[in-house]
Amino acid sequence: MYIKNIKLQNFRNYEKELIEFSPKMNIIYGHNGQGKTNIVEAIHFFQSGKSYRCQKDIEALKFGEDYFKIEALFETNKGKSDALIFVNDKKSVRVNGFQLEKLSELVGEYNMVIFTPDYLKLIKDGPGVRRQFIDSFISQIKPTYFKNLISYYRVLKQRNNVLKQKNMLQTLDVWDEKLASLGVKICKMRKSAIDKINETINIIGEESSLTEKIKLLYTPSVKGDFEDKENFIKQLKSSLQRELEKGMTLIGPHRDDFEIFMNDINIKKYGSQGQMRSCILKLKLSECEIIKEKTGDTPILLLDDILSELDEKRRKFFLQSIKDKQVIITCTEKENIDIDDCYVFRVEKGKVIRE
Ligand SMILES: Nc1ncnc2c1ncn2[C@@H]1O[C@H](COP(=O)(O)OP(=O)(O)O)[C@@H](O)[C@H]1O
Ligand SMILES: [Mg+2]
Repeated sequence: MYIKNIKLQNFRNYEKELIEFSPKMNIIYGHNGQGKTNIVEAIHFFQSGKSYRCQKDIEALKFGEDYFKIEALFETNKGKSDALIFVNDKKSVRVNGFQLEKLSELVGEYNMVIFTPDYLKLIKDGPGVRRQFIDSFISQIKPTYFKNLISYYRVLKQRNNVLKQKNMLQTLDVWDEKLASLGVKICKMRKSAIDKINETINIIGEESSLTEKIKLLYTPSVKGDFEDKENFIKQLKSSLQRELEKGMTLIGPHRDDFEIFMNDINIKKYGSQGQMRSCILKLKLSECEIIKEKTGDTPILLLDDILSELDEKRRKFFLQSIKDKQVIITCTEKENIDIDDCYVFRVEKGKVIRE
């Protein structure tokens, strides 16, 4: 799929702007603080209906204004599709003229894979970042996963309240049951997504000079058979004492993680910066491949300010691997990329000029 155009109104430092994209390569360049990332953020809004940069929509509202509107036209394998996001004190999202009742209905509609400058966090940081990666990935190919996840976190919150307040402990059995039935579904899907990544990831680098073997290892918080609900409940029961002390649930998918190995070496502990970069490039590219395989449509690839960080070898591998997709790249220096249908845009103080 690709985005044909986007119209921004009162979004960040854009007052009113229309950008027409190439279905292939788009390079957006300009000095710092001009509005390049703001464009990537606006496009990515259509993936989940939210900003990946801030918690509150209102932060993206142009200073001094009381609403913002972003509209986009996509070309998907099912044909043209238009979407609109309008935010004032409320938010409304429309797809092909129909108002969505819930934001979660948007997930899976427009698929995108994004690289941001802090992408090494995926390896270096705590498990939360990796859970977010795997959750966003599976949600794009399986909308039911996203729904289960929302329900799981709702139940988790209620169970945590009971543990904290200790006044409704007789309801715990009910919460355990609900948590476990949603939990096992989530674990099962995470396991199969990680298996799928493992199948795909090493095919990607095969013909390049980046031939290190990568393997992901799912490390669920539930020990033993994580697809067995009774086992899940048993573990909840046996950690109840500690849970009451801490006032929170200590077992379940909200505590899952996965480890990444490169040639059998744990990359978080022993990998070099360069190896981490290769690893994440391949991980993201396999995400693209799997989304394409499962949905029949290539996702849009958004690269915010990362190309300049790559050395020659990785850059070549990367540019070679993304030829079949729509790519939107931002950079501070004008990049010369030898790809057909390449549009170049210069951004200056919230104005976008196609060169
Ligand atoms: N809510 C907002 N209203 C108006 N301007 C904003 C808002 N949020 C950020 N900006 C402006 O946007 C610019 C940063 O845009 P950004 O896309 O991050 O820059 P870059 O080109 O470096 O990627 C800054 O000039 C900042 O002041
Ligand atoms: Mg930026």
